[in-house]
Amino acid sequence: MKKNVAIFLSGGGSNMRALVGAMNAAHPGRPALIVSNDAQAGGIAWAKGQGLETLVVDHRPFQGDRVAFERAMLAALAPHKIDLICLAGFMRVLTEVFVSPWQGRMLNIHPSLLPKYKGLHTHARALEAGDQEHGCTVHLVTDKLDDGPILGQAHVPVEADDTPDVLAARVLKQEHRLYPLVLERFLNGITEPIFLNADLSQP
Ligand code: GRF
Repeated sequence: MKKNVAIFLSGGGSNMRALVGAMNAAHPGRPALIVSNDAQAGGIAWAKGQGLETLVVDHRPFQGDRVAFERAMLAALAPHKIDLICLAGFMRVLTEVFVSPWQGRMLNIHPSLLPKYKGLHTHARALEAGDQEHGCTVHLVTDKLDDGPILGQAHVPVEADDTPDVLAARVLKQEHRLYPLVLERFLNGITEPIFLNADLSQP
């Protein structure tokens, strides 16, 4: 029986699309629910167009009260019988109120080779540091930001003339390879991390 996966996003949702695409083929997960804190998120419009079930809990009426927002999210999620959450560009920091009931059942993708560059502006920071390689990480979520056991990483080279945007695009392409693969492995009970190198011969 397939596991019900909820995907959380705040933006265009290209990682969500990659996850949905993989789950629509032979995969142990089913894209049961697409969740956002923003009704205008591009990913929500796309998901609706695909006939996927969506849920929006707008954080703004909570006026910075993270605990109240997270309690509302937990309550809204409860009827959906979700087995696993994939955070995919979900731009709200989650506290232990939300994380603790989902700990061990919630993954995140972060655009750096963690533990390097937790938080924002990861591509600019990698360039400023003069790194020769960069990449992305899928990890289990804990209540510490961009922390938690690593389940997989994809490495990309940094080129001499890279800008943050060029580097971000190179990393994003690998995010779309890494996340569906790690999700599949995780749902099959594999928690040993996997490390991918970018195959730059692929278009
Ligand atoms: C990705 O780079 C992801 O790693 C980061 O936010 C971005 C989301 O992109 N957390 P998208 O909405 O999946 O296109």
